[in-house]
Amino acid sequence: MGGIEDLRPGACISVELPDGSELAVYNVNGEYYATENFCPHRGARLTEGALCGHVIECGLHGWQFDVRSGECLTVPDRIRTYRVRVEEGLVKVEIVSQDYQDLRPDFHD
Ligand code: FES
Repeated sequence: MGGIEDLRPGACISVELPDGSELAVYNVNGEYYATENFCPHRGARLTEGALCGHVIECGLHGWQFDVRSGECLTVPDRIRTYRVRVEEGLVKVEIVSQDYQDLRPDFHD
């Protein structure tokens, strides 16, 4: 998805996939994590929220998610997480085609 220099510690970026869905990729003190990017509440991009340690807080209504597990800390819910590897200075997210349907928005009413 890109070089590690593009993602500083404490930052997160969105990565658009070929089908239009998105991942959020986080750098937490040099450890990299990836989740789906659309908040399950009303679909805001999590990368437009605030990353504090391992917790991303949605910028729209403040739901919080642990980027390591995908667990929602606000309500009983979760987001998908993906394995991230760093090889030769590149950040690589492991995603298989069946995952695509899970990355499309599916919001709460
Ligand atoms: S859209 Fe994320 S908390 Fe409401």
